[in-house]
Amino acid sequence: MNTPISIRNAGFGDAEAIFRLIKSYPDELLARPVSDIVQNIDRFMVAEREGEVVGAAAWAVLPEIGKAMQPSVEIKSVAVKKALKGRGIGTRLVEAVIERIREFKPAQIIVLTFTPDFFARQGFVKVAKEKMMHKLYMGCVNCVKYDNPFTCPEIAMALLLENRE
Ligand SMILES: CC(C)(COP(=O)(O)OP(=O)(O)OC[C@H]1O[C@@H](n2cnc3c(N)ncnc32)[C@H](O)[C@@H]1OP(=O)(O)O)[C@@H](O)C(=O)NCCC(=O)NCCS
Repeated sequence: MNTPISIRNAGFGDAEAIFRLIKSYPDELLARPVSDIVQNIDRFMVAEREGEVVGAAAWAVLPEIGKAMQPSVEIKSVAVKKALKGRGIGTRLVEAVIERIREFKPAQIIVLTFTPDFFARQGFVKVAKEKMMHKLYMGCVNCVKYDNPFTCPEIAMALLLENRE
């Protein structure tokens, strides 16, 4: 029950476990192929318990036209093993990812999510999707779940950082 859980940077050897974790939430998360996870493994953190990957969280840098030095970073693919939900693992993962992202000094961290209350606890506030057109063009246009980002039920949220102009 009280087995220690460590949060660490992901490595290639974690890719298949991350793949399975994300795939276990088809309604909440966009599936990602193993090759995509491998190629972005340096943008993943995992939670490990007794050698098993029991949680994952990732981020992606979004382009910012006109303010190249003020990009937004998206947190994505946050998943905790179903049997271990509600024990603070998700919070620890997202806190660790935020700490890592802060080092890059982005203007904001964004998320599109079905669990706004979870992210609100970490300081995220709801924003209009129109405020994240870069995300809509980079990701939502290729979405296979919904035909229109403005009617997609995911909630757009942002954590505004001190580096904003
Ligand atoms: C959302 C998720 C990552 C949370 O992980 P977790 O380890 O269960 O979360 P924690 O135990 O750290 O919970 C922290 C707080 O958020 C709350 N919370 C957790 N999941 C929640 C949810 N789905 N909706 C609302 N609140 C939630 C918890 O009740 C807890 O509140 P408390 O501190 O008052 O007790 C996990 O439930 C999950 O993998 N969900 C499926 C995938 C998903 O929706 N990912 C997020 C989209 S990117």
